[in-house]
Amino acid sequence: MRHLFSVCGSRNIGNIIKCFKPRVSLATRDRPLNTSFVCRKYTDRRTSMDLSNMRKSYKSDQECFEEDQLASLDPIKQFGNWFDQATKCPEVGEANAVCLSTATKDGRPSARMVLLKGYSEEGFRFFTNYESRKGAEMESNPYACLVFYWEPLNRQVRIEGTVERIPYDKSCEYFHSRPKSSQIGAVVSRQSTEIPSRQYLRDKNAELEEKYKDTDVPMPTYWGGYIVKPFLIEFWQGQTNRLHDRIVFLRPKEGETQLGDMQHQADGGWVYQRLAP
Ligand SMILES: Cc1cc2nc3c(=O)[nH]c(=O)nc-3n(C[C@H](O)[C@H](O)[C@H](O)COP(=O)(O)O)c2cc1C
Repeated sequence: MRHLFSVCGSRNIGNIIKCFKPRVSLATRDRPLNTSFVCRKYTDRRTSMDLSNMRKSYKSDQECFEEDQLASLDPIKQFGNWFDQATKCPEVGEANAVCLSTATKDGRPSARMVLLKGYSEEGFRFFTNYESRKGAEMESNPYACLVFYWEPLNRQVRIEGTVERIPYDKSCEYFHSRPKSSQIGAVVSRQSTEIPSRQYLRDKNAELEEKYKDTDVPMPTYWGGYIVKPFLIEFWQGQTNRLHDRIVFLRPKEGETQLGDMQHQADGGWVYQRLAP
């Protein structure tokens, strides 16, 4: 609650409502499914919120996702098919925005969004600060999970795999392809460390803009890319009646040659199966 007020910059409820930019007018506030409903609950200064009415319709049974609708039995190609559709869907704001989950060595999880910057048969690539919280977690526990949710398409993709740093020269290539201001931003920000104020960042940014005004920005040693090499990729499509479709591709462990009762052979050494929603 305190956080909400500080985000909105004021305890004035008018400002809080503006901050949420409700898509419907407050005249419709008795309808259960809209943003103004959430705002109204905050005006009551309740610490407990009942969201049990928040529910959207997904796809009908006629639009379900059956095995014969897989674009490919290679899960990377299947990902490519859904990803292309997401990028072409105007309602999907940022198709490559993905939630990255990592965990400490003793299993404490954390998650945040990153931008996927490439994928291939090898895996899924993104860039970050190696010394950030996620960086530290991936260095000590080299596993990660990526989750895309393309809400207008009612689709989710979950990718689990091992993580490795991508080669230095590939990170450098990408670093220098970014706008200079973003390169400077990466140098300015020792991601996930404490800083005294926003002004501290402004000052450091101005200092580095001056320093590098006529020269290239060297890529910091603490910045670069990771690749998640998948051993599981799950394609989920939502159904209004909650009988969602889940088709999971798995890479069998070494020595595992026998297909399970409900498993099917896929391409590239993968197998696939359906899971209950
Ligand atoms: C849509 C979106 C995309 C983001 N993309 C990246 C990214 O590609 N790399 C990155 O380091 N942080 C990215 N961030 C910021 C992270 O979510 C996060 O705040 C930051 O990396 C620090 O995370 P950590 O302290 O858990 O390491 C993005 C945030 C959002 C909302």
